[in-house]
Amino acid sequence: MTRTPAASPAPPPGAYPSAVETGGAAARRFHLRHGRVLPAIDPAAGTTAPKHHPGAPVLPLPFPPDFAPARTGGRHPAAFPEPLGALLALINGVTRIDWTGTGASAGRPVPSGGGAYPGEVYLATPSGLCHYLPSVHALEVLSRADQRTSVIHALKQPPSDAPELAVLITSRLDANVARYGPFGHRLQALDTGVLTGQALALLESAGAGPTAHACFSGEELGRLLGLDARAELVHAVITARTPHALAPGTALLRRRTARAGFEPAPVPLPALLAVLAEAAGPVPLDHAPPAPCELYVVAHRVTGLDTGCHRRDRRTGRLVPVTPDATPRDLFPPGGPGELAGFEAAFAVLVTGDYESGYPRFGDRWYRMLNLRAGVVGQRLGLAAARHGLGAGLRCDVDTAAADELLDAGPERTTLLAALFGHERGSGTPVCHLLSEKDLP
Ligand SMILES: Cc1cc2nc3c(=O)[nH]c(=O)nc-3n(C[C@H](O)[C@H](O)[C@H](O)COP(=O)(O)O)c2cc1C
Repeated sequence: MTRTPAASPAPPPGAYPSAVETGGAAARRFHLRHGRVLPAIDPAAGTTAPKHHPGAPVLPLPFPPDFAPARTGGRHPAAFPEPLGALLALINGVTRIDWTGTGASAGRPVPSGGGAYPGEVYLATPSGLCHYLPSVHALEVLSRADQRTSVIHALKQPPSDAPELAVLITSRLDANVARYGPFGHRLQALDTGVLTGQALALLESAGAGPTAHACFSGEELGRLLGLDARAELVHAVITARTPHALAPGTALLRRRTARAGFEPAPVPLPALLAVLAEAAGPVPLDHAPPAPCELYVVAHRVTGLDTGCHRRDRRTGRLVPVTPDATPRDLFPPGGPGELAGFEAAFAVLVTGDYESGYPRFGDRWYRMLNLRAGVVGQRLGLAAARHGLGAGLRCDVDTAAADELLDAGPERTTLLAALFGHERGSGTPVCHLLSEKDLP
């Protein structure tokens, strides 16, 4: 059974990407107008409901899922439903209950700007094509036929060996725009990058050799999934072999935002360097970036490192001083919530990139590709912080112009995403884990 065909593309006003390819002109315009500054957020504006496919058969998955493929009675780990439950729960499932000032909320292994979760996860396996419903931990079956060949056909750089599994990550275009306006489209690219980062971390740790693809025919994949191109677009496809047991110590369930703020206490330099090293490794994407995503550190309370902005040298891993005396507080507009968080944080990491370097080769799509890459690095930072016992939180509310001034790297290099780190205050906000790390192998 294939789903209803996608409607002809007619993006909503202010949407990115534009309907026609402009070689980067439309993306450049969008960024200047909407992408650089987080607008005043309407706190009363909600986020839209997650996607579901009316009429598709729903297969409930057992919860808690079985994390050990060996215990699944010899069934093919890439066949659904049961064995895929673990994979999906760890990518985007509801894995904890968080209590915050506004009440209890469903916590996930991945962060999302404003908790809007615009990303949706689809799977193509030998058993068919399905969409994951995180809130009920179930699959919607879109097709019982093996659609992997069609997925691979749409990729610009198909893998040399036919993959066992393809994870398709889409974004709902309206998910966060009521609250963030058109800036929401950039946030969506970062968010789907975060999901891509989690899927890569999980599949890498399960020995499945994943590659994330950002270059593909979105029309072909949208048609395959039955998407209305005005409402939902494919952002990434991750191809992989059959996942095996997870390597221990992945911290895939431990990451969460340090909501209680940070103790103004120092972090030792080796912990900072370890977090950076984990985040800075090569990202298995289907394209090489024309200019690298450099990492910068703005240190305030790091034992053994001067206060100020430092660039991480990609070759040596060493921190090169760039702008003395700057602190994370300087990254945020005065009087906003970021200023206090920045004041308390021990250090900030800035993920930076160069939009102009990629437009000639990739066109408008490069804008989304670069933000997707930054999201992958952002998720790696969060996972690395969890592994090293640090509190962390991603931030898109930095004053980009102020941050870029600290980089002292010319007009083209800009801050894509920031993350704050430190020791989370007290024992953090109350949390109830629905899945336990001890269930992971
Ligand atoms: C791309 C991105 C940008 C974010 N920006 C901010 C921000 O500016 N301020 C903030 O407090 N939290 C920010 N967050 C964190 C989210 O609010 C948080 O991930 C979400 O509420 C879910 O909570 P959790 O991370 O504890 O699972 C951001 C998250 C992402 C993925």
